[in-house]
Amino acid sequence: MTQSPSKNRVGVVGLGMSVPTKVLTNFDLEKMVETSDEWILERTGIRERRIAEPGTTTSELAYPAAVEALKQAGLKASDVDLIIVGTTSPDMVFPSTACVLQHRLGSTSAACFDLSAACSGSVFAMITAEQYLATGRYKNALVIGAEIISNFVDWTDRSTCVLFGDGAGACVMTKVDRGGILTTDMGSDGSAGELLYIPAGGTKHPASHTSIDQRLHYLRMNGTEVFKLAVRQMADSAKNVLTAAGLSVADVDCFIPHQANLRIIQAVAKRAGVPMDKVFVNADRYGNTSAASNLIALYEAVQQGTIKQGNRVVLVAFGAGLTWGSILLEW
Ligand code: ACO
Repeated sequence: MTQSPSKNRVGVVGLGMSVPTKVLTNFDLEKMVETSDEWILERTGIRERRIAEPGTTTSELAYPAAVEALKQAGLKASDVDLIIVGTTSPDMVFPSTACVLQHRLGSTSAACFDLSAACSGSVFAMITAEQYLATGRYKNALVIGAEIISNFVDWTDRSTCVLFGDGAGACVMTKVDRGGILTTDMGSDGSAGELLYIPAGGTKHPASHTSIDQRLHYLRMNGTEVFKLAVRQMADSAKNVLTAAGLSVADVDCFIPHQANLRIIQAVAKRAGVPMDKVFVNADRYGNTSAASNLIALYEAVQQGTIKQGNRVVLVAFGAGLTWGSILLEW
């Protein structure tokens, strides 16, 4: 976690995002389950989320985000030699969504794999890519967080269905002369895995009539426990990357937390001592897009001019697993 000299740092040189056009508002949800716009707004700060049309695949949603990130980076698909897709809603169990995307992009010389870290997917994938790029093993990485999580949401369960949305965020990473990643942090706690999980579809409960009848292919969550752990781990992880760089909250211009929901984000900021005017929030418009959330938020923060050249930025994530992680970078 030591700070590396500038010329050897790895940075983000292009960003892209893509969300489905269909908007599902809290008022739409009022017609589907026993809930209200007022309850959802007060508990989560979410107003609406995007939902993919049935039949859309995660790689299809990721593709335009990838193309945009490559365009911003000034690279061709053939220049990419590593593709990592953070996702928990892949096109298929295998092959990986990264391989499907590689084929569509035409990045024929890239090594490709998916990374499963749930909502920490984009941060874990960026940290993984950084290692390969820093060693010189690969030169240009395309890192994506993409989810069509709506396929795994139980639309009859009001305690979870109001929280999630679909989306994809992408970035191109390479070695940079200026700025780049300063420090990173990752952690996991498998003992709390069943606080947030999809029971069936793997080897534990392969698809069967029973698994379908028992709705085991849908996401299940203990919201209260997840809330507490998300706040503690995200605040501590953000502090870890700052401590490792010898910096404090005052030295950071923008925090990009996983957009789980506004109350979690506010509690993380409070615990980490970060004023909310330094915290980027777009959960109101997209809900929790899981692995896509940090990259979509980073994209919008840069597009809106919230993040400017030379700014210090902290990305911080938390997800099922449990998993958590942070990246401190100079823009
Ligand atoms: N509409 C109306 N009422 C609801 C709804 C709803 N959508 N959902 C739950 N309720 C009810 C409950 O049934 C309960 O009723 P009861 O008291 O009669 O039993 C009441 O509201 C309170 O429920 P709680 O679960 O205690 O509500 P809480 O204030 O904890 O908020 C929430 C629930 C928003 C899910 C919260 O626990 C939370 O934010 N958890 C974090 C979950 C999360 O974001 N996970 C995402 C994945 S992990 C990550 O990304 C960080």
